[in-house]
Amino acid sequence: MSAAGRGRPAGSLVLALETSCDETAAAVVAGGREVLSSIVSSQVDLHARYGGVVPELAGRAHLERILPVLEEALAAAGLPLPGRRTPGSPLRGPGGAIGAVAATVGPGLVGALLVGISAAKSLALAWGVPFVGVNHLEGHLYASLLEEPELELPAVVLLASGGHTLLVEMDGPGSYRLLGGTVDDAAGEAFDKVARYLGLGYPGGPAIERAALDGDPAAIAFTRPMLDQGLELSFSGLKTAVVHHVRAHPEVATPDVAASFQAAVVDVLVHKALAAAHLVAARSVCLAGGVAANASLRERLTTACAREGRHVFLPSRAMCTDNAAMIAAAAHFRLRRDGPTPLGAGAEPSMGFPQPS
Ligand code: KG4
Ligand code: ZN
Repeated sequence: MSAAGRGRPAGSLVLALETSCDETAAAVVAGGREVLSSIVSSQVDLHARYGGVVPELAGRAHLERILPVLEEALAAAGLPLPGRRTPGSPLRGPGGAIGAVAATVGPGLVGALLVGISAAKSLALAWGVPFVGVNHLEGHLYASLLEEPELELPAVVLLASGGHTLLVEMDGPGSYRLLGGTVDDAAGEAFDKVARYLGLGYPGGPAIERAALDGDPAAIAFTRPMLDQGLELSFSGLKTAVVHHVRAHPEVATPDVAASFQAAVVDVLVHKALAAAHLVAARSVCLAGGVAANASLRERLTTACAREGRHVFLPSRAMCTDNAAMIAAAAHFRLRRDGPTPLGAGAEPSMGFPQPS
């Protein structure tokens, strides 16, 4: 019996693949809670010279990387590799220990999604186990539950990535309610666009964060959009304000612009996360998505929650950015609630946040 299978009921592991954007990822998770392996191959270097993700290149790169990444995830979990299992193994390869194979089905780039979906369906078919299609946004919510099993619920999750900025109330696995979100650009998208305009490179979030270290966050009083308008957010006007300011003051120091812009985004995100927490009497506030890697956001949210006596949980940066462990965890609970996804299901590039059922 494999290391991962030992002491666990047969079929209790979920293998998941994540290929929605520019990270090729595979993970094995036990019981929806215990990460046995999580491998991520980032394509950031491939897309950096174009200043953003090039969908055609992303799809091709996923195709090249998916099998090595999958093999690495199985090996790291102590599972035999497909097609290389020891003859006579009582578990008949990973299929014996793995009870389901999952993949992100949307939202994301269609060509990229299809690589993970096709690979996951093929494995599910070959091993005779269910396929589970997972909503990428739902996946992000599991970052906190995976790293903090004792998370005090209900929690408000601020999911801020390159494609989405959402506020979600979470009562437990599979139980969540969308409270609000951006009406235009996502927070990460604003970081990326402003960084590109300032010539700081891609991805914009880390580039702005680095530049901001040498700047004064109070140098420019950028607008805090929609601060007192419920739980809706907007970042498009802030990005335009940065462009107007730099045009009007070409002598301005780039670090001051970066620091002042970052302060405005962080102010809005912290304010809205706390407003959501008040609204639903949340016991915890959590972060998810790539923007959650931002040190200033992490510090400011921690301080603001401490002031209110509210628990804050900040998942590791690796769990906040795209990974397959969060997809495996979401799949575990989806499978128990809704059963397998039909093999005929395809990619859903514009998939929205899952409706409560
Ligand atoms: O969740 P993610 O890895 O991929 C998506 O699903 O979009 O998020 C990527 C986004 C990018 O827009 C990137 O600029 C932003 O997260 N990001 C950051 C930081 N690191 C990544 N934004 C602000 N500060 C950071 N340190
Ligand atoms: Zn994501």
